[in-house]
Amino acid sequence: MNDSIKPDAAALPDDRRSLAGRVAFVAGAGASGPGWSIGKACCVRLANRGASIVTLDRTAEAAEDATQAVIAAGGTALPVVADVADPSSMEAAVDTALARLGRIDILVANAGVGRTGGPEDTTLDDWRRAQQVNVDGLLIASRLILPSMRARGSGAIVTVASVAGIRYVGYPHLSYSVSKAAVIHFTRMLAQQYAADGIRANCVVPGLIDTPRIRHTVADRFAADFESARRARDQQVPMQRMGTAWEVADAIAFLASDEASYVTGTELVVDGGLTGKYA
Ligand SMILES: NC(=O)c1ccc[n+]([C@@H]2O[C@H](COP(=O)([O-])OP(=O)(O)OC[C@H]3O[C@@H](n4cnc5c(N)ncnc54)[C@H](O)[C@@H]3O)[C@@H](O)[C@H]2O)c1
Repeated sequence: MNDSIKPDAAALPDDRRSLAGRVAFVAGAGASGPGWSIGKACCVRLANRGASIVTLDRTAEAAEDATQAVIAAGGTALPVVADVADPSSMEAAVDTALARLGRIDILVANAGVGRTGGPEDTTLDDWRRAQQVNVDGLLIASRLILPSMRARGSGAIVTVASVAGIRYVGYPHLSYSVSKAAVIHFTRMLAQQYAADGIRANCVVPGLIDTPRIRHTVADRFAADFESARRARDQQVPMQRMGTAWEVADAIAFLASDEASYVTGTELVVDGGLTGKYA
């Protein structure tokens, strides 16, 4: 491991050192606007536990933003720019991570995109892009990272789906929903195939989360102005509020850590009760 990016695990209190010495590769580490995204909060939570973070994002600005968040929290991060749907840029990213940090213990497959629309107003391009980023991206990262996890006999993969992958969310979001359903089942298949290799795979299923993404994806589904849209989203949830990026990040960090050492092939729904609601 390169000394300049080695975490000073000894500086962390005991109860936060559970991932000391490990490397987490977070794909989709940045945010699509100002504020805390799930990926960025996840980078900080994993760094809080002592892991070194590979902050991968599609743009240099987003990767750097996540890197600075980790550094501000006292952790260490290696920014990498790649599109999760592009096999060659991902291969270069994984090579860089392994060359600089020596190993990848944790993969968080967080990058996700999708446009609203049903079968009659979803273009084939939109459909394919959701599939490429959300599903092909998972295949590409898995193919690149699994061999070294298998060789070491350990690893944890956490994927990020959505309640849209298990329920109709009240408006058509077909390409996204179908791709997120695939993420859930992909994760189950990974868990079964690699359980005997010491590799766990689990999926976090967020509900309505207050992240930068909702400014440009769902706000227009509810009301003309963004604050009204936020209130409408809050009111849909039995807990009467959207979740925060931190609440999802904590679930990801749990599944990535040894605290979940006997948990594999499952989904952890983080939704304030939303999917249990009748109407
Ligand atoms: N916000 C919600 O309400 C919500 C609910 C359920 C699931 N999710 C899922 O959680 C994940 C994170 O969502 P968020 O709300 O924090 O989003 P966000 O848009 O704020 O952050 C996503 C990050 O992923 C990056 N990314 C997107 N496509 C990429 C690609 N092809 N290659 C590399 N990086 C890419 C973006 O640049 C951005 O930095 C997504 O998978 C999303 O589908 C979000």
